[in-house]
This record gives sequence, structure tokens and C-alpha cells, in this order.
Amino acid sequence: MSVHISAKKGQIAKTVLMPGDPLRARYMADHFLTDVTLVSQTRNIFFFTGKYKGKEITVGASGMGFPSIGIYSYELFTEYEVDTIVRIGTCGAYTSELKLFDILNVANAASESTYAKFAWVMEEDLIAKQGSAFDKINETAKELDLKVKTTNIHSSDIFYRKDSDLPAIAEKYNCTAVEMESFALFANAKFLGKSAATILTVSDIIPTKELISADQREKALQPMMELSLETALKL
Ligand code: HPA
Repeated sequence: MSVHISAKKGQIAKTVLMPGDPLRARYMADHFLTDVTLVSQTRNIFFFTGKYKGKEITVGASGMGFPSIGIYSYELFTEYEVDTIVRIGTCGAYTSELKLFDILNVANAASESTYAKFAWVMEEDLIAKQGSAFDKINETAKELDLKVKTTNIHSSDIFYRKDSDLPAIAEKYNCTAVEMESFALFANAKFLGKSAATILTVSDIIPTKELISADQREKALQPMMELSLETALKL
């Protein structure tokens, strides 16, 4: 047990796939894993450990934002000997060059957040993916004949804002999309010498206000889920 995860030591796999939403973690466990055990449900943040094509994998939710993913990823890395966390989430596109359902593999996360500075005395505002998972995602996507774009993203603390202009940091680092978790995940992994990557599906196009409807979401996220599971076989 850790402060926020009630699994026993040994009940979490070395590779954790991490959607934001606990119900998405349940969906993955129900649809893709065998021999599944629900190993933690503290605060309804579900962690399931099971087998995918014979390999032990944990799927568990991060919740939303830096504080939440910061807590879960830190405890997984430090108390459960997890080697790799692959976040699988959704993002808003800053440009209509991206389309709904596009899949992104994140090279770097840029943020105005002070998370990395105050947690780990990391002064930088751009933190790269850590370890080999990013390359393995690209490799696996090719094998699956799945189109994946590599890009920098903006990790933001803010979902709703007054000003609809492109945030300065997104312009500075050529960020094509925004989400709210990867910067903290990458900072934790970097500080702890662990691996972390992020795969995102575009769920909304900010300039045109298009979005994936609630009933499209389940199906829309399946290619990303399968990509993460097939990648996990190589980690
Ligand atoms: N902003 C931040 N996070 C998101 C968005 C967004 O527009 N869409 C999906 N995750």
C-alpha cells in the first residue's frame, strides 16, 4: 500500500498504461486483458492488473491535472517498482491542421507550471519524454499501419480561460495540442530515472470548436488503447 494506492506490493506490473478516466481503465481491463484483478480502488481511481497476450500489464487512472498524475506516478515509480508509465489521454488541438481522432506521440511537454521547479528544482519549462517508450510507440504504430504524429504539446493547468489566443509557451515550443498531465509525469520520471511516454487522441479542435461526441469517444480511443497495449509487449 502507498498513501493513495491500496494495491499490495507485487500487484502492479512493471508497465502501467494510464488513461485519465477510471472508467476508461475499466474499459481496457474488460475488453483487452485476461486474468484481471482490481488491485486498487481508493478514491475510485481504479488500477487493474491482468495479462495482455501473456504479458502482465497494469491499467490505472491518473485523474486530471498535474497534482493527480504527480501523486499516482510518483507512488507507482517509488513504491511499486514500476519502470514505465504510458499515459493514454485526449487533447485539444491548437491547429486545424490536426483532425479529430488523430493520434499523437509526445516528444516534449511544455508548461508554465511550477510543478517541476518546486518538486524537483528543475527550472526548465520543456521536459522530454523519458526512456525508450516513445521510440517503441513509433515502431509499433508502423507495424500496426497506424498513422501517429510526433509533436510537442502544451501541458496546461487551465482548461477554461478568458483569453482565446494561443498561449505564449505553446507558440514558443511549436505545441500543436494541449492536455493537462504530461509535464508532471515526465518531470517525475526524469527525476527518478524512470521511463514515461504519452499517446494522445485529438478529442477537440480548439479554433473550430469541433469535438468528438460522448458516444463516439469509446470507439475513438480504441486505436490508441491497442497501440499502447502492443507497445507494452516490447517494454
Ligand atoms: N484543454 C486541455 N486539456 C484537454 C483538452 C483541452 O482543450 N481537450 C482534451 N484535454
